[in-house]
Amino acid sequence: MTNVSIPELADFTESALDKAFASLEASAREAAAGLSGDEAVEAFRLEWLGRKQGRLNDVSSRWLKAAPPEAKKALGVRFNALKAVVEGLLEQAAGAGPSDASLKAEAIDVTLPGTRRLLGAEHPITRTLNEIVSVFAALGYSVGVGPEVETDYYNFECMNFPPGHPARDTQDTLVVANQERRPLRDRLLLRTHTSPVQMRTMEQQPPPVRIVIPGKVHRNDAADATHSPIFHQVEGLCVDTNITFSDLKGTLDHAMKALFGSAVKTRFFPSFFPFTEPSADVQISCIFCGGKGCRKCKNSGWIELLGCGMVDPAVFAFAAQKQPAYDPKKISGFAFGMGVERIAMMKYGVSEIGQFYAGDMRFLNQFV
Ligand code: PHE
Repeated sequence: MTNVSIPELADFTESALDKAFASLEASAREAAAGLSGDEAVEAFRLEWLGRKQGRLNDVSSRWLKAAPPEAKKALGVRFNALKAVVEGLLEQAAGAGPSDASLKAEAIDVTLPGTRRLLGAEHPITRTLNEIVSVFAALGYSVGVGPEVETDYYNFECMNFPPGHPARDTQDTLVVANQERRPLRDRLLLRTHTSPVQMRTMEQQPPPVRIVIPGKVHRNDAADATHSPIFHQVEGLCVDTNITFSDLKGTLDHAMKALFGSAVKTRFFPSFFPFTEPSADVQISCIFCGGKGCRKCKNSGWIELLGCGMVDPAVFAFAAQKQPAYDPKKISGFAFGMGVERIAMMKYGVSEIGQFYAGDMRFLNQFV
């Protein structure tokens, strides 16, 4: 379309050049006059300044090249002047602002409702877990973690469950397949409790130790109202000189009061864990009936909440293989482990553990 409008130039005298450029400038001004909208401005730019097909490009390739050497300078000066004029016209047209149509397309209807961004919130299990951890953090405990895929050695052997020991049957275990060729102690499994991190911690640092370890654990248990094959625990370990069962009682009594309210009482009921001696189950006075006896506490007035005990010397002996300072003649300690779901169910009156995992917003929204 453009080539047609650039006539051949035969006369290269100054006046002929003036005339030719004046007529070009006039048509550029005419074209730029009623430009409206981005598209029209762009079309103008392409028509006049386009690198390949633009009119100015044509002028340059036809006139400048055909010009006799003595006319080239006069032509070049006029060419540059025209180019500046066209560029000015383009700038003006572009700066004139968007057209009505493009304004309309971009317009914001301030009467429409905005896009609502939902606030995230902690899952009730995460919240309970953090709450437990902060109770102990306030007592000077640090926080640790360990792997969820654990070896038989850490999960069982060094926690004083020897191979083949019947105590292993109390934690029905999910094991990683095809490891029969490995020595038993190296075989991988999904940790059944957070206790292996007790040993991992002691191997890393000499006493004193005060640490809590939150984390996910797995057991090959059928799901029912109170059991899930995946759940969470918070482990605790305190090792120092002269740590006694009274320290354990005082610490856990304080923790239960911090979690469930200062009216709660605790009692320590004899129990068994291979890695603690003596061992106890901690019971709290029923938070539903205040200890009078109800359906929730099976009329006993007490609810069993966690396991604990004094660290067994056999466990210290395993730790001492890497850190000799864990000499049971010089130090002592206590450990405890609690189920986060169980505590969350108690605190919030949830009767089905599965509700925590179902992802039903009607349930979860109650905790926001
Ligand atoms: N690891 C035990 C369990 O999962 C709980 C526990 C931890 C008991 C520490 C005593 C000391 O059942």
